[in-house]
Parts: sequence; C-alpha cells; structure tokens
Amino acid sequence: MSQTADLEPSALGKKEFWDDQYQLELENFHDHGDEGEVWFGNLVMNRIVKWCSSSESIDKKTPVLDVGSGNGLLALEISRKGFLNVLGIDYSETAVQLSREIAKESSSHVRLKFAIFCRNLAAFSKGSKFGLILDKGTYDAISLSDNAVEDRGKYVENIHSIMLPNSFFLIATCNWTMEEIVQSFLPYFCFVETIPTPSFQFGGKQGNNVSIVVFKRN
Ligand SMILES: C[S@@+](CC[C@H](N)C(=O)[O-])C[C@H]1O[C@@H](n2cnc3c(N)ncnc32)[C@H](O)[C@@H]1O
Repeated sequence: MSQTADLEPSALGKKEFWDDQYQLELENFHDHGDEGEVWFGNLVMNRIVKWCSSSESIDKKTPVLDVGSGNGLLALEISRKGFLNVLGIDYSETAVQLSREIAKESSSHVRLKFAIFCRNLAAFSKGSKFGLILDKGTYDAISLSDNAVEDRGKYVENIHSIMLPNSFFLIATCNWTMEEIVQSFLPYFCFVETIPTPSFQFGGKQGNNVSIVVFKRN
C-alpha cells in the first residue's frame, strides 16, 4: 500500500478535537449566523467547485460524496452549482448537526449523515456508489490519528470500493505533497491532474501549501 512516511499523531487526528471545534462553530452559528471555517480558504474551495461544475465528464445527476464534510459548506456549494444528489458524511455528530442547520437555512437538498469513514462503510453506503467523491482536509486528519497507518490504507480501499466506473476523486491536502498523494493512491486510481493553488514563499523557497489532486477510478 502506501510507501509514504508516517506523520506524528496530533490533536487534529482525534474526534474530540473536531467535536470541540464544531461545538464552537455551532454556538457561533446560533449566536450570530457565522457558518464557520472554510478549511484551506475560499480560493481552494472555489477551485474545487469550479473544476467539478465545469467538467464535461461529470453528469450533474451523478451521486456525489463529500467525505468528512464538516460544516457542509463545500457540499452546499456543489449543490448550488446544480449537482442534484449530494451526500456529506462526518464522524463528528456536532459537525453533522451544524451542517444540517446551515443546509436547512439555505433550503438545500444536501443530505448529511454521521459515519466513521474508515470503519462503518457498509452502514452508510448500503451498496451505493458515487460518480464524484471529494475530500478537503479529511485524509489529512485521518493521517494524524493514532491509528493512521491502518486507517489510511482502509481509506484508499474504501474510496475505491464505493466509486462507479470512470468516476472521479478529488483530494485537497496540506499535509502531503502532490507526489506523496499520488504515490498513496496510484495503486487504485489513475492520476488525472492537479488543480493549481496559490503558492507561497518561505525562507526564499517557493512552495505550495495546499495540493488539489484529481484521480479517476481504475
Ligand atoms: C480538516 S476538517 C475538514 C472539514 C471539511 N471537509 C471542510 O473542508 O471544511 C476534517 C474533517 O474530517 C472529519 N473526519 C476526520 N476523520 C474522519 C473519519 N474517519 N470519518 C469521517 N469523518 C472524519 C472531521 O470531523 C472534520 O470534519
């Protein structure tokens, strides 16, 4: 499976961290309507949405899954662009509650469910397959869990097993380089392209802080 080096486990790999984060976002949403953090910023989210909505290979009726949907803003944007069958899942019940409340206020038909992606796959998918799967920051979080080696392997296998033939998988990551992500997913997927992200300069070196990589199912 993955040949890439492991990352040190951190708080971002723990469910309690995300429960606390979304509890705060939920309170802010109730207090003053703030929908919460756009992970990696609006520019990255907009580039993902633009790629999906302008791709001629993706039918707007195809089932879309956002893995680790958090406050659900990416799933909502995708649905606003005309995708008719969008599901977001997250292992934080508080995130699911927040995303449902935000979706309800926007009169959106996005479905949001609780699911632990690396574990109870059958429970949420019930045999469903998807034509487009999105991950913005979730594989990053899974890579920082105490059980990361096993969970990362399971993640790649699970994504592959719920994809329709010729379907697409888009992943945005800040913990892995484009080369590392390709190495981890290639056994199961064909590399399609990277979506350019703004790069920053640090210590005289130019580098990308977020990579968005598009794969197609083998
Ligand atoms: C970095 S946040 C990104 C959230 C969202 N994708 C966004 O862009 O705002 C990572 C998300 O993954 C969720 N998550 C982490 N591990 C998960 C797992 N094994 N199954 C489902 N969700 C998970 C967390 O609860 C959190 O919402």
